[in-house]
Amino acid sequence: MATEVLPLHLGVKNLVDSGLDKLPGIYIQSKEERPNAVHREESFPVLDLGAALNSSEARAALVPQIREACVQWGFFQVINHGVPHSLVDEMQSVAREFHALPNEEKMRYFSTDTESRMRYGTSFNVTQDKVFSWRDYLRHSCLPLAEMQELWPEKPASYRKVTADYSTRVRNLAKFLLELISESLDLPKDYIDKAFNGCSQVMALNFYPACPEPDLVLGIGPHSDPGSITLLLQDHVEGLQVMHGNEWYSVKPIPYSFVVNLGDQIQILSNDKYKSAQHRAVVNSSEDRMSIPVAIGPNWQSLVHPASKLVEGSPVFKPMVYKDYMTALQAGGLNRQWLLDTLRI
Ligand code: OGA
Ligand code: NI
Repeated sequence: MATEVLPLHLGVKNLVDSGLDKLPGIYIQSKEERPNAVHREESFPVLDLGAALNSSEARAALVPQIREACVQWGFFQVINHGVPHSLVDEMQSVAREFHALPNEEKMRYFSTDTESRMRYGTSFNVTQDKVFSWRDYLRHSCLPLAEMQELWPEKPASYRKVTADYSTRVRNLAKFLLELISESLDLPKDYIDKAFNGCSQVMALNFYPACPEPDLVLGIGPHSDPGSITLLLQDHVEGLQVMHGNEWYSVKPIPYSFVVNLGDQIQILSNDKYKSAQHRAVVNSSEDRMSIPVAIGPNWQSLVHPASKLVEGSPVFKPMVYKDYMTALQAGGLNRQWLLDTLRI
């Protein structure tokens, strides 16, 4: 399916670099959607994994903390997570280098096919979006690793190696967290892994250029992540906001931490005990911002349904194959009805 490449499809960075005098109307959000005042919440849960990675007692002590964070927020940050800081630095720099490449180089990977396993794009889905997001991104699968690595960008030269190491380390951390999440639901440690037949993994390099009128646009509009859990690396620039009790809270960046959020499939498996929190990203007028989410999901073919042990009476959600969920989500774009609600019984 070939789509014509229009000037705005070349991305936000290209637009800004080519000398922007007026914000194109397609980026301007309706009054209701525009970013408004936010709370800064100092008690946003931060979990220190240091001891739990090495001792079973410390690990057991973490389970109630995870439960509390999942019930209250559906979001938490982790520190001392074992992913080497040097690797985090390398990942941030190859991602920045990628976005700094000439547009012709990045556009080699441009596609509007949302099923594509590796594509460069802007906004969310330019063939559907009524209002464009102030975001450029590269988005690709990480599994099977050897096969996917061949499709990843050739530039910067170390991209494939750094991203292979990084995605493997972050996947292992995600598996550790999913075991704790299983236990926090009073399920066996390997319950989620078995129910989801292992995992799928997709990552993105999000780039949000500084914007002359940040109060009129959104970097990415309100959404929940569709998979199991997302581990997001943000740089030092604030921008991620989480919905909590009907208000937006800004997640202040902590160097070398990951922001972890629950996705829709955990909400389904937990039979609504845990929620996949809505979140969005705002931009600012002085600095570019970059974020790197690693989204772990069920294996594409898994039929996801509430865990029978957590169902009293009838289940809250209908079962659905994860791949079909993703197809429906991508086709609808971000201006959709919340897809999860369509599965409610
Ligand atoms: C995402 C996302 C938030 C951010 O890519 O799904 O929620 O801070 N990003 O970039
Ligand atoms: Ni998200």
